[in-house]
Order: sequence, then C-alpha cells, then structure tokens
Amino acid sequence: MTERSADESVRANEHIPVLLQEVLTHLVGRAQMPEGAAKESGIFIDATFGRGGHSRKLLEHLSAQSQLLGLDRDPEALEEARRLSEQDPRFSFCQARFSKLQEVLKDKRIEGVRGVLMDVGVSSPQLDRPERGFSFAAQGPLDMRMNPDEGASAADWLNQADEAEIAQVLWMYGEERQSRRIARAIVAARPLATTLELADLVAQALPRPRGGQRKHPATRTFQAVRIFVNEESKELDQGLQQSFSSLAVGGRLAVISFHSLEDRKVKHAFRQLSQPPKVPRRLPIQNLDLQVQGRLIGGPMKPSLAELNANPRSRSATLRVIEKVR
Ligand SMILES: C[S@@+](CC[C@H](N)C(=O)[O-])C[C@H]1O[C@@H](n2cnc3c(N)ncnc32)[C@H](O)[C@@H]1O
Repeated sequence: MTERSADESVRANEHIPVLLQEVLTHLVGRAQMPEGAAKESGIFIDATFGRGGHSRKLLEHLSAQSQLLGLDRDPEALEEARRLSEQDPRFSFCQARFSKLQEVLKDKRIEGVRGVLMDVGVSSPQLDRPERGFSFAAQGPLDMRMNPDEGASAADWLNQADEAEIAQVLWMYGEERQSRRIARAIVAARPLATTLELADLVAQALPRPRGGQRKHPATRTFQAVRIFVNEESKELDQGLQQSFSSLAVGGRLAVISFHSLEDRKVKHAFRQLSQPPKVPRRLPIQNLDLQVQGRLIGGPMKPSLAELNANPRSRSATLRVIEKVR
C-alpha cells in the first residue's frame, strides 16, 4: 500500500491535479478542447475542490449554461473557491463533507447531475503546511484534521485512546504489521503534542529494517491516524453512494483514490452497481440485468509515464469511472 508522502518537494500551496486528461476525457468527453467545439452542458460537482486544479480545467470544457459546484470540508479551500467564483459565475462552492452531498443538493434545489469528481485523500497544501500536522517530515502540532473546526485532533485521540484501539486502527487503516508494538510505545510516551514526537517514537519502536528502506517508518502510522481522525472510510462509503444517487441517467462518477484500501472500496461499490445481483438459479427471478444501475467505463486508470515524471506524487493514484444507466 503506498500513498503520497510528505517528503517530496512540491511548492507550498500548490496542488497539481492528478490524472487530469483522463478525468476530462471521461467526465466531459475530451482531453483537449478544440477551438469552436461544442462544449458539454449540465450540472457538474467537484466533491473534493482542494485548490481547484480539476475545477478550473473542467470549467474550460463546460458551456456557458453549465454549472460547477465545488465541495470541500477544509476551510482553507474557501479562499481559492471565492477567487474562482468571482472569476467565473458558473462556479459556486459549499464547505461541506461529501457524505452530505444530497443535503447540499436539496438545499440548492439541484437535480440530475451530469458528472461528479471525487479526488479523495489529502491535498499537497495540506501535506506541505507543517501547521496542519499531516507530515511526519516537519515539526507541527499533531492535528491532521481536514477541518480543524470539527472533531478531535490526532493528539487528542492518541492521548486518551486504549492501547488496543490504537493498535487496531494502525492495523486496519495502515496495514501496519507492528501495530501492537507501536501502540504500546505511544501509550508509554503520552502525552504527545507534535508530529515529530510521533514520527521519532515510531522509528525507535520499530526494528531496524534490513537493507535500505525508502519509506519513512512512520508512513503507515500517519496514514492510519489521519484516516481514523477524519473518518475517511465512512466518508468514502457514503460519498460514493450519495454521488452516484445524484446522477441523471447517462451521468458519470469519476473517483481518484490514493491507496489500496480506498481503491478496494471504490472497486467493490462500482462492481455492486454494475453487476446483476447473484440469486440461486432455481429462483424464478427474471430480468436481473434490469436491476443493474451502472456501467463501468474502462478499467482502473493509472498515471502515464509522462505524468509520473512531471508529478511523482501521482504514482499511487487510480481512477475508476462509472456511468448511470438507470
Ligand atoms: C486530493 S485533494 C483534491 C485536489 C483537487 N482535485 C485539486 O485539483 O486541487 C483532496 C481534497 O478533498 C478534501 N476532502 C477529503 N475528504 C473529504 C470529504 N469527506 N468531504 C469533502 N472534502 C473532502 C480534502 O480536504 C482535500 O482538499
């Protein structure tokens, strides 16, 4: 399982949109916009606005009558979103979790969406700003909340949770084989306050790896704690379901994930939507195909070599796309 790591140098506050050509091809029909070509029309959602990298490009491909609604739970996305809505009246923004998408759409009386993009996980600006507490490579408060106004910080949770609960989270969301050993070390060292305290503690708790190790030993621990603190697993389940439900027939959902746990969830959800239910042959149920709601568009898509060279952080990204058929 790999993920964007905090130790790669990308300019602070910059986020390079990942798998951009593939997203444009499958959500708005083309990667390049030839001059004078008819543009795609309808209502589109960017459920993970971030710094608006995908949104800006999507807008270039949408007609004057179209709308693009951006969502992000991070209050720091607001400033960039405000700038974009001032530049382009087709764009609007709502600070919300994507698990609340249906509520947001109901409030805004939006129905029959043509396309939704979910580019899940953390953005480069979140990773690169030490004060957000996501990085094991820079000193900062042990926070890791995508919305710092919501829920408990990583430090709050780690300082009061049971050793067994911490071990379970590290195993479940980090697939960390040494989860028990790390949990024991955390409990012994409490209270923890900073990112480097946690990163150093994990490095010391783990046996020294044989041969060279590329990844920081705390990579899996930081990933697991971040997923837990932000309830990312539940968010993804609900976000997928709400995004697909919001689509009109013919509308598409494109999801970019960054590690195997996320991609497995997306693959499973898309399979359930695109395959007829399995029932014993002896049951007289007909027209099972009519119960299929979605059609997979291609297989899993990975960044090209050119993208990998230009943006190493894209390396663990996978895009999957599904179209609503009924
Ligand atoms: C990978 S970044 C998206 C980058 C964006 N596509 C761009 O090009 O700038 C992921 C963003 O999703 C947001 N996010 C993650 N989980 C979310 C959720 N459950 N609801 C809303 N936003 C979420 C994060 O705050 C982050 O800004």
